[in-house]
Amino acid sequence: MDHRSSTFFALAMISLVSATAQHFSSSCGTRCDSRRDCSGGLVCNPVSKTCDGDPGASTLSCPIPGCEPAQSFIYSNATAHDPEYCVDNNTYQFFNCSPKEQSLNFAALYYTELEGIPTACNRSTPYKNSELLANMATGWFASGSSCFKEIVITAENGMSVTATVVDICASTIGCSPLTGYYEPCTPRSLGGTRGVWEALGQTYFDNVLQVTW
Ligand SMILES: *[C@@H]1O[C@H](CO)[C@@H](O)[C@H](O)[C@H]1NC(C)=O
Ligand SMILES: *[C@@H]1O[C@H](CO)[C@@H](O)[C@H](O)[C@H]1NC(C)=O
Ligand SMILES: *[C@@H]1O[C@H](CO)[C@@H](O)[C@H](O)[C@H]1NC(C)=O
Repeated sequence: MDHRSSTFFALAMISLVSATAQHFSSSCGTRCDSRRDCSGGLVCNPVSKTCDGDPGASTLSCPIPGCEPAQSFIYSNATAHDPEYCVDNNTYQFFNCSPKEQSLNFAALYYTELEGIPTACNRSTPYKNSELLANMATGWFASGSSCFKEIVITAENGMSVTATVVDICASTIGCSPLTGYYEPCTPRSLGGTRGVWEALGQTYFDNVLQVTW
């Protein structure tokens, strides 16, 4: 790691936002059948059938019962404008929890590459991106108790795939050289390999998909 840039990063980045500054939309929790029933940029959570925050949003727009952000901060990096990475002046949140796991869970699916990298679940054979593999947000990963769990991921188009959990995604860190300046993953994130995305009928991997698992 380049120590100069990481020192600068430490000085530049952290501008803490008071937890009490969080304002949730008044439509959170309203009954819904589809996104059209929800105002204020909220989506219809297909599990609870209530208007909820986008599970892939970098900050919560509706509360998650029993799961508060561990930290909120405004990212400051004048050269960072690419939305794929943390963006200047945007607010981000770190989480070390996820919504309580149920038989069906609402999640945001990201594309992830696991080929040739060490993952939090130890397997002696190297991973391939064509395999059906997933990572999970910190709370759902549950310190490794979700390792090698088989989960069925279903996309909004109705297609499903069974994937094996082999890693945690970084929801307690992010916006730093350690994570390639990517956003912290949200508390309701899953990552899926190319194999998973293809099995869900997706070709555009830069997307974030709303899924259930
Ligand atoms: C700002 O973010 C970009 C990526 O968007 C990164 O390449 C660069 O190193 C960051 N600069 C600092 C000072 O952290
Ligand atoms: C971020 O905020 C600073 C200070 O208000 C401003 O100078 C800068 O232009 C803002 N950056 C972006 C990308 O809007
Ligand atoms: C994987 O192995 C490392 C090093 O031995 C260990 O620290 C870690 O806890 C292991 N992970 C799991 C999920 O067992």
